[in-house]
Amino acid sequence: MISIQDVHKEYIDGETHVHALRGVSMEIEQGEFLSIAGPSGSGKTTLLNIIGCIDTADSGDVEVDGERLSSRTFKELVEIRRNKIGFVFQNFNLIPVLTAYENVAMALSLLGLPEEEIRERTMSILGEVGLEGMEHRRPAKLSGGQQQRVAVARSLVKEPRIVLADEPTANLDSVTGEAILKLMKDMNRSHGTTFVFSTHDQMVMDYADRLCRLHDGLVESDERQVAHQTV
Ligand SMILES: Nc1ncnc2c1ncn2[C@@H]1O[C@H](COP(=O)(O)OP(=O)(O)O)[C@@H](O)[C@H]1O
Ligand SMILES: [Mg+2]
Repeated sequence: MISIQDVHKEYIDGETHVHALRGVSMEIEQGEFLSIAGPSGSGKTTLLNIIGCIDTADSGDVEVDGERLSSRTFKELVEIRRNKIGFVFQNFNLIPVLTAYENVAMALSLLGLPEEEIRERTMSILGEVGLEGMEHRRPAKLSGGQQQRVAVARSLVKEPRIVLADEPTANLDSVTGEAILKLMKDMNRSHGTTFVFSTHDQMVMDYADRLCRLHDGLVESDERQVAHQTV
């Protein structure tokens, strides 16, 4: 599903060079629920952005659902991202002037689907993430946990093969964060969506079926684990 081979990424900012990824390799299968863990600055966001076609690697090979990402044009990468990948961000990234419904529906409008189908799919996923009755609220009228539920719904409504979540619980209290993880795990089971999420929180790591630790831009360990029992 996702194949990463010897990926390097360096940021150059004037005199400063930061080698954010120094030869990262990993294979991720369809349907995995995988956590990329590591301290701040270890390269988690850089890696997720490269898998998610938001940024590009300097060298190495990345393949996502049969698409090789190297030597793609910007436009082709946008297209791959739009069709195959859902993103959930640490700060939710909802559009403040749009309602919960509109934030989710927009992902489908961008695909040019018919109005009726957009309506059905949006209402259905909002129900699945537990936001029935809150469709018409703007983000400011929702709690942090509810906003992240909207973001999870938005990432899933396209029925993408892959959802990438960059520290999705970092701005939530631990109870709410756990609820979001359970929601993602349920979606992973019921829809077979591949989830790759980053974190530096031990509780969040414990939920993953597989834990891949990054340190200074290198994979330090990569192990399957018995995940928390989710009910
Ligand atoms: N746009 C950027 N310009 C310069 N340095 C960056 C940029 N983005 C990230 N970095 C640096 O790259 C390293 C890895 O960052 P990042 O991928 O954000 O790690 P993490 O998400 O694990 O905190 C850090 O040292 C960070 O400061
Ligand atoms: Mg980060």
